[in-house]
Amino acid sequence: MDFVRKEIEELRKNIEKAKLGGGIEAINRQHAAGKLTARERLELLFDNGVYTEFDMFVTHRATEFGMSERRVFGDGVVTAFGRVSGRNVIGIAQDFTFMGGSVGEMHAAKIVKAIQFALSVGAPVIFLNDSGGARIQEGVDSLKGYGEIFYMNVMASGSIPQIAVIMGPCAGGAVYSPALMDFIIMVSKTSYMFITGPRVVKAAIGEDVTEYELGGAEIQASRSGVAHFVARDDKEAIEIVKKLLSYLPSNSLELPPRIDVGDDPHRTEPALNNIIPEDPAKPYDMHEIINGVVDRNTFFEVQKDFAKNAIVGFARLDGHSICVVANQPLYYMGSLDIDSSDKIARFVRFCDSFNLPIVTFVDVPGFVPGTYQEHRGIIRHGAKIIYAYAEATVPKLTIIVRKAYGGAYIALGSKHLGADFVVAWPTAEIAVMGPEAAAEIIWRRELQSLKDEKEREELLKKLVSEYKQKLTTPYYAASRGYVDAVIEPSETRKVLVEALNFFLTKRDIRMRPPKKHGLIPL
Ligand code: HXC
Repeated sequence: MDFVRKEIEELRKNIEKAKLGGGIEAINRQHAAGKLTARERLELLFDNGVYTEFDMFVTHRATEFGMSERRVFGDGVVTAFGRVSGRNVIGIAQDFTFMGGSVGEMHAAKIVKAIQFALSVGAPVIFLNDSGGARIQEGVDSLKGYGEIFYMNVMASGSIPQIAVIMGPCAGGAVYSPALMDFIIMVSKTSYMFITGPRVVKAAIGEDVTEYELGGAEIQASRSGVAHFVARDDKEAIEIVKKLLSYLPSNSLELPPRIDVGDDPHRTEPALNNIIPEDPAKPYDMHEIINGVVDRNTFFEVQKDFAKNAIVGFARLDGHSICVVANQPLYYMGSLDIDSSDKIARFVRFCDSFNLPIVTFVDVPGFVPGTYQEHRGIIRHGAKIIYAYAEATVPKLTIIVRKAYGGAYIALGSKHLGADFVVAWPTAEIAVMGPEAAAEIIWRRELQSLKDEKEREELLKKLVSEYKQKLTTPYYAASRGYVDAVIEPSETRKVLVEALNFFLTKRDIRMRPPKKHGLIPL
């Protein structure tokens, strides 16, 4: 056997110790709970399981409450850099086996340093959360640590992609680091997120609720919209991270990677010529349009179970990464409400931050009416869509496939908010409001003067048809240049590919008044 000097032996032993985290028993408990350990997760994340760990020998400095005896290398979090699909990425994985992955002063300092590393080279941050929250024994030092993590999340926002994966508990203030990041992936059954847990909820308001009911993955992905994706297990969560990264640039100064999937850019899709039902009150599935137009099998939906009346997601068009925003007539006929407004506005802002062109498919009768929506501030929320589209400087392509009425027409990628290229299908209906409502208002007197119900109905029918022919056809909007082209639906892909390739090099030359920052209506 080769001679190994004692310093090297000591290093090897220390590394072994560090890798044990909270010890074998705790690792077994982690596995028994259906969870992987921090290092196993990072191995799945990085190419060939290879990564470079830093701050492996960091330890906490607390001494009270028996903390001197509870000190391990790494302090309950593993930080590393490495490659994912050949590109630099920072990985942060909390180690639940040591003190429940709780966040103390030094644990937080490691996370802050990792985000600083990512920012300095322009690499995405992947934060694998599994933690009991602020380390109680470290008091305000722990809170200071959290504050500094939040600060770094804010500094990194819009500069590098930040993806949080929730793979265990995430409670109290701990939820705010993921909430400040761009995307949250939650693992079904083993993860939950909430501000106050079931015990506090019971004590404060007497409500009986389980952790899962309060903040499980499915709830956060469908009801609150806090989570963007749900994974079956740790492995699938990491796969979602990789897929997500494949659509994104590493930072705001880069373009997203182009991946040619071999789909003919000029492919026609005859089925689209018949997708819009004859009856304007009938819905259809907008996914069929999106999937028919973008590169085959590349549509990757975000927040698919939340605010289903809107669809947002990534796709490729002629290999280029794009963002897709669309109305979904299967829910509320595609009308916009508070949640769908938030969903769209947030996504548009993300895409604009990271140089992703925005392709919008419009079929929107308007905003959802009623006291429920008004009293909860649909005005404030709907305004976010307008703000986000107007502010976005990336190429913006819009396809009006059917209804585009009123404020919703303006908000959803209209020419008037700076869309670069707007096309309409011949089935498009563009106007201040739907024909029936419009006719009832502008011809109210004529209609009221008729006493006979049947006669009135007939007149209304005639007026509606007149209104449709004169005002709502795409040719009316096209005659003003608000619509750049009226196209056959089957040719949408070809037109969009050409438009994208043309506008890809767009530079926004609109005048921007000097300011610190605008105030998106929150
Ligand atoms: C110190 C903690 C801890 C914490 C867990 N542990 N959370 N230690 N500070 N916050 C320790 C436990 O004492 C235990 O130590 C080990 O981690 C594993 O925890 P268990 O309870 O045995 O595991 P489990 O049954 O899976 O339950 C996990 C848990 C529970 C649900 C997370 O531990 C828990 O409720 N912890 C407290 C959660 C909490 O209230 N955190 C503060 C939130 S407020 P041993 O010695 O047994 O191995 C907050 C404010 C942040 O975070 C503010 C930021 C602005």
